Amino acid sequence: MESNNITVVGLQWGDEGKGKIVDALARTSCYVTRYCGGANAGHTVKAGGEKFALHLIPCGILHEKVINVIGNGVAFDPEVAWGEIVALRERHIRIDSENFRISSCAQLVMPWHKYQDKLNEQSLGRNKIGTTARGIGPCYADKANRSTSIRACDLLDVASLEQKIRHIGQQKNTVFAALYNAAPMDIGTIVAQFRSLAENLSPMICNTSALLRNACQAGRRILFEGGQGSMLDIDHGTYPYVTSSPVTACGVPAGAGVSPKSVGRVLGIMKAYTTRVGAGPFPTELDNEIGQAIRDAGHEYGTTTGRPRRCGWLDAMVVRYTASLSGVDELALMLLDVLTGFDELKICTGYKIDGEIVKDFDPARLDEVECVYETMPGWQQDITDCRKFSELPAEAQNYVRRISEIVGVPVGIISVGPERTQTILHESEIKELA
Ligand code: GDP
Ligand code: IMO
Ligand code: MG
Repeated sequence: MESNNITVVGLQWGDEGKGKIVDALARTSCYVTRYCGGANAGHTVKAGGEKFALHLIPCGILHEKVINVIGNGVAFDPEVAWGEIVALRERHIRIDSENFRISSCAQLVMPWHKYQDKLNEQSLGRNKIGTTARGIGPCYADKANRSTSIRACDLLDVASLEQKIRHIGQQKNTVFAALYNAAPMDIGTIVAQFRSLAENLSPMICNTSALLRNACQAGRRILFEGGQGSMLDIDHGTYPYVTSSPVTACGVPAGAGVSPKSVGRVLGIMKAYTTRVGAGPFPTELDNEIGQAIRDAGHEYGTTTGRPRRCGWLDAMVVRYTASLSGVDELALMLLDVLTGFDELKICTGYKIDGEIVKDFDPARLDEVECVYETMPGWQQDITDCRKFSELPAEAQNYVRRISEIVGVPVGIISVGPERTQTILHESEIKELA
């Protein structure tokens, strides 16, 4: 059976504008499901002048009737989630056990994971990864370790949860003291905190894999909301400067508990340029006034940590690679307005190593490559009010066409501002968007 679902996946190093697109597509969907990452994500939605920065709650929450799901592949931080729920309710957004469901198999980010993330980064000094300090790596490490993991289903049995917290918490205190000479955590405080979180979140915990597979069977559309960007994928990104989960469309079946056939149409989200937060190779980085101009125009500061994002020219090699990893059907080209005002724009269309053109993209060798650039004329007109492709200046149209040519995928959507309305439907097959 042909799937009616849509998967939204970031094609660079995160912050491509996934939040805006998920919000736009949510009104055509019954479910919006996160399948990877956790509160390291920061997805921004601007609607009617209001701004929402969501970390763990899927971006479908702003639409009535959409059921928002945390898949089993998510590193779920109950403290952050509950904070977001309270904050959303204060803004009169409904969020309860009917429109928010948490997989009973989702791993919980515990206070010791966040503590360990910070201690580990400190101990690495100049070699640090530059994580978001949200405890993501340590949580997935405990998932693989099994005996030190706590899952959402454990919140349903408070007596056994308390035992686990005391046992694992003690172990962590011993290890952190030995490894980092760190002060111990107060386990009693954690127990009390989790008793209250368990009471608040328990009604939302269920078998989400069954829920989603039944939805597929009934032909009800699921929108899978990717976190991070494909170059941060644990296997296919710039390891070790990556996050700790599979974030491409390949992560959907495992992280949501659905069949690979349920991935549906894959929409690849990319910026019209490149950014990265944290350490690691970035071939087109502009550590100069052009990079600063992009940072200023795009307000390129992290949604989760507030860190200035590293900025650079569009690396089309990266996007061609990541689009092929996820089998991307169409592209959403975001933040095109940020490039207004440059005399010329560069696109990286190839790499050389030792003077030889590189044939196959290899994320492990990205710190060795020299970029081959193509230069295109820029445009000066404000494009934030354009609503049709034909209204864009010819130079902007050519820039879009060239990207599609190099990546080998049509550009379905073009975004010219953060607001819901600042969107151009170009060659999209998702007709309900119109
Ligand atoms: P995500 O993590 O992929 O959801 O992206 P973020 O929310 O972290 O970062 C994208 C930023 O760009 C947010 O501040 C959005 O409001 C903003 N944004 C999205 N699309 C556009 C656009 O087309 N133009 C401009 N200027 N900003 C945009
Ligand atoms: P969204 O969903 C940008 C980066 C961190 C760091 C690396 C590892 O908003 O696009 P982690 O805390 O995951 O162990 O950090 O990954 N990173 C992101 N960068 N956007 C994100 O999410 C990110 N999530 C993680 O900056 O380099
Ligand atoms: Mg973000």
